[in-house]
Amino acid sequence: MTDIRCIGICTGGGDAPGLNAVIRAAVKCAFLKYNWKIIGIPDGFDGLIWPEKSYELTLKQVSGILPRGGTILGTTNRGNPFQYRTVENGEEVTRDISDTVIANSRKLGIDAVISIGGDGSQAIAHELYQRGMQIVGVPKTIDNDLSATEVTFGFDTALTTATDAVDKIHTTAESHHRVMVVEVMGRDAGWIALESGIAGGAHVILIPEITFTIESVCRFVKKRETYGKRFTIVVVAEGVKLPQELKENRRAGSIGNLIGNSIAVTSDKEVRVSVLGHIQRGGSPTPFDRILATRFGVAAVDLIAQGGFGKMVCLRKERIEAVEIAQAIGQLKRVDPNGQLVQTAKAIGICFGE
Ligand code: F6P
Repeated sequence: MTDIRCIGICTGGGDAPGLNAVIRAAVKCAFLKYNWKIIGIPDGFDGLIWPEKSYELTLKQVSGILPRGGTILGTTNRGNPFQYRTVENGEEVTRDISDTVIANSRKLGIDAVISIGGDGSQAIAHELYQRGMQIVGVPKTIDNDLSATEVTFGFDTALTTATDAVDKIHTTAESHHRVMVVEVMGRDAGWIALESGIAGGAHVILIPEITFTIESVCRFVKKRETYGKRFTIVVVAEGVKLPQELKENRRAGSIGNLIGNSIAVTSDKEVRVSVLGHIQRGGSPTPFDRILATRFGVAAVDLIAQGGFGKMVCLRKERIEAVEIAQAIGQLKRVDPNGQLVQTAKAIGICFGE
């Protein structure tokens, strides 16, 4: 057991449904199980540049936040104390202010920090740990692309939102005999596209892990017409690798629009595009995400109590475990093009544009 009296908690990177559930669980567990004081650090590690902005988190403050999306602490995906960008004498300069951040956490009486974030935030957490900060990580991202954990909270909610959108697109696509393109998030991994495409009954799924051509997609659209299916739903991951000809003509605008226009020109079909964007990051977390987030929050507090600094909680074979943050960062978990999920999709006739 470590000699802990006060912990800090911060959320960094893009928000994900379930962040508040982690904060609530950590505050409850830290207070009720260990009688620790908890400090909320606003806007990721940026909050430690101005320590006066941090504040005590009590049970009252976390009451009612379990079903709320976003993060009550605020977040930023630009806050990196090792490369802090500021303007001096009219010029933008980058400074390492990690010493200030660590000193300020000590000034606040913080003995250990829970850093909730994705790959980028965990890399910062690891560097701060190496500089002496007692820190543990909680993985988060709707993209589900962290290799150290089987799943991250936020993914299930984003998947539910994307699936609901694909469901809704079905009726209008069918009524108008159109090709409907739905662009979803996921950065360089195709998990949201693949799973919402399968769950929503899409006919074409384009993901970063599988190379596609517009001709192949259009051939498939035509073939469906020979079966009497005059509409096609295409789910596109925002991170797909564009075919060379589209790369050359790359204009401003979303990937979905680019692909949609190209399908329209090549197939002579009417095409409409929906870019789901940040609605996938919003809304109330699903029960799965609330439970996973709660388990992570409790596990992070227990990890601090056990002195497991420099580690991150994760889910493996349905059990919550801990891994070294150093091993958890830098390796993206991507869709296996030969894996069971892709094979299942192919077996029911879904086209990947190959
Ligand atoms: O990593 C989560 C994510 O939502 C990605 O899916 C998306 O590419 C990115 O963040 C969007 O970031 P921002 O909120 O900065 O536009």
